Amino acid sequence: MTEDRRIFALATARNRDAIYRILKEELPKSGTVLELASGSGEHGAFFAPLFPSLQWQPSNLDEEQLGSTRAWQKFVGADNFLDALKLDATANPWPVEQDYAHEPITAVFNANMIHISPWRVCQGLMAGAGRVLKSGGRLFLYGPFKVGGFHTSESNVQFETWLTNQSPEFGVRDVEKVKAEAALNGLIHIESCPMPANNFIQIFEKN
Ligand SMILES: C[S@@+](CC[C@H](N)C(=O)[O-])C[C@H]1O[C@@H](n2cnc3c(N)ncnc32)[C@H](O)[C@@H]1O
Repeated sequence: MTEDRRIFALATARNRDAIYRILKEELPKSGTVLELASGSGEHGAFFAPLFPSLQWQPSNLDEEQLGSTRAWQKFVGADNFLDALKLDATANPWPVEQDYAHEPITAVFNANMIHISPWRVCQGLMAGAGRVLKSGGRLFLYGPFKVGGFHTSESNVQFETWLTNQSPEFGVRDVEKVKAEAALNGLIHIESCPMPANNFIQIFEKN
């Protein structure tokens, strides 16, 4: 009997249905979705079977979480839930830019990463998404954001305090700053979707 390495993240179980409602309207209908920072792997485990016309490519830089994602892949057994890749958002190039069998990458999905990592990780995400997406490809960014420099809820104020206690380099990002970084990489902000629990999905399209 082998050890079950699946990690169960409560937040994913809470947010996946609301995220799905946006993705099913806004994701491109074909190609590969590259998920950055796939964490436990549960988003891919849930979304891949719901999008059989897409390939779902999870990735992360953390070995334990890659192990969990691979365990979820085995558990789900969906052909379009691809083997997890080791990928650091700050790398240039990303591994999918060389000898990658599942092109074209038509979307990049990233949940809950840019507030809990240094700003350079958001910069790496935008630069990499700008490189891998072709014209019309989309980036979906899920998580909390400040709007106009202000938190959107009291709970996000408290969350920011918790984040900055983890590291002064972490913090809830201002959507305008994120949009500006995206634009530097040819990614135009097309929609801001309010989500439950004071989160958003920010959608960008490669020009
Ligand atoms: C709060 S978890 C979110 C996991 C998952 N996306 C979710 O929503 O449940 C943050 C994730 O960001 C990943 N991460 C942090 N820095 C990263 C980087 N430079 N490149 C790729 N992933 C990174 C961590 O390994 C972790 O999986």
